[in-house]
Amino acid sequence: MIRVVSTISEMRQARRALPEPVGFVPTMGYLHEGHVTLARRARVECTSVVASIFVNPTQFGPNEDFARYPRDLPRDLSLLEPAGVQVVFHPEPSEMYQPGATTYIDVGPTAQRLEGASRPGHFRGVATVVAKLFNVVQPQKAYFGQKDAQQVVVIKKLVADLDIPVDIIVVPTVREPDGLAMSSRNTYLDAQQRQAAPVLWRALCWAQELWQAGERDARRLRREMVSLIEAEPLAQIDYISVAHPETLDELEHIEGPSLVSLAVRIGKTRLIDNITLGGP
Ligand code: PAF
Repeated sequence: MIRVVSTISEMRQARRALPEPVGFVPTMGYLHEGHVTLARRARVECTSVVASIFVNPTQFGPNEDFARYPRDLPRDLSLLEPAGVQVVFHPEPSEMYQPGATTYIDVGPTAQRLEGASRPGHFRGVATVVAKLFNVVQPQKAYFGQKDAQQVVVIKKLVADLDIPVDIIVVPTVREPDGLAMSSRNTYLDAQQRQAAPVLWRALCWAQELWQAGERDARRLRREMVSLIEAEPLAQIDYISVAHPETLDELEHIEGPSLVSLAVRIGKTRLIDNITLGGP
């Protein structure tokens, strides 16, 4: 039977009883097949699995969707239990952020580009909450989706720079049959917007096709993706990037592996996606 705990002290106590290695799947809830895949992978690789469900207020900007972010704990638990999760940490914001807490983690330049440029303060909130969750849960391994590619870069930097003894395991993006990356925010799309949303995946596939045909000019890949997305009337580009996969520096010429990523608004919903060219 899955156990839900809501305080840090209960979580620490539950953790002490768990056989190691412990795998950890941090989430903001309203789970989909992508999260379930992370939990299943953790179950295969670890003896115990903990998930967290916490819509973290510090990673949302003032005009973002914190208040309306979808929440459904019973549904989430019904997905996590069969995936092999034993303990779910589900704290209130007041439990995670005690009055008077003023310490935040800033991982530097990689957190200021792309998502960080469009959503100032976002990765400060992510890095801080992930470090706090790692301190509370103390897992050996933690599982993150490749869909949030920059988040993965930031978290790898966080654990390396602060000597946090957690292996970061990155799991491929899970997609709908038409290529749309699974995301809790897909539920915001109406029927017409949902039809338009796979334009992100089509743009990434087009970039990959061009690269496979030998194109190495990153500016041309960006231009081609812009044209393809601009042909979709419901889509509005936030950014399109062809960057070094670790530093996230924008490339002009592609020599080694590169991270092609984009953020596009479909109506009011901001979607992100990425692929790696020439990578594993
Ligand atoms: O990817 C997410 O759902 C969140 O950013 C995370 C890692 C759970 C931190 O709040």
